[in-house]
Amino acid sequence: MSEAKNAGRAPGLREMAEGDLDAIARLESELFGAEAWSRGLLATELEASQGAEADRRYVVIESDDAAVETGADAGRMQPRLLGYAGLYHAGGLTSADLLTIATVPAARGRGLASRMLAELVGTARRTGCPDVLLEVRQSNESAQRLYARHGFVPIGRRRRYYQAPPEDAVVMRLTLRPRLGPVGTSEAHEVRETTSE
Ligand SMILES: CC(C)(COP(=O)(O)OP(=O)(O)OC[C@H]1O[C@@H](n2cnc3c(N)ncnc32)[C@H](O)[C@@H]1OP(=O)(O)O)[C@@H](O)C(=O)NCCC(=O)NCCS
Repeated sequence: MSEAKNAGRAPGLREMAEGDLDAIARLESELFGAEAWSRGLLATELEASQGAEADRRYVVIESDDAAVETGADAGRMQPRLLGYAGLYHAGGLTSADLLTIATVPAARGRGLASRMLAELVGTARRTGCPDVLLEVRQSNESAQRLYARHGFVPIGRRRRYYQAPPEDAVVMRLTLRPRLGPVGTSEAHEVRETTSE
């Protein structure tokens, strides 16, 4: 069993910080291969999550018990990063969008993604977003189960949305509050099936 799985204390959730970017960029390429976000893109995203104009939020989850010594700061033990997630919330002006969520393979199946997702859904709710949308690879059943447990339902498919390897995306939505629509409809807003066949 891995070090992370043996950890006694519950891993802590906090805001992402610049000091996390190297570890996250490494994880991105391990987990997402050709579709990994670069360190530069991660830094831009993080910047957009800070300050009064922030329209997104990034969190990480880490374990104090499984601390690692970093090369950059030899001698100092750093908590081990176990996962990260991000949400675009547009200050509540429109639908929120789950931008990314991942946990390291050794720490999966412990509810860490579930905690990060619940935290970010809470952010969307508090900000006033009517719903949270996301795209997920059709073959990614574990992620789809995670989302379904949190109340997300499939609402459409985006054909060949992913490139490497090519694959359709399933679009899922969690409704946080009903939207007022034109008379005679229950919703003004509808994400349509975008399959172009
Ligand atoms: C999808 C992903 C984020 C899930 O992360 P995770 O931390 O393992 O998620 P959770 O632990 O919350 O849930 C995973 C499973 O563990 C189970 N679980 C959660 N807490 C548990 C606990 N305390 N004891 C036992 N099982 C538990 C859940 O029921 C779930 O089971 P299921 O897959 O059979 O439905 C992770 O697999 C990942 O990083 N994948 C690669 C990146 C990715 O695909 N991201 C999504 C892009 S859309």
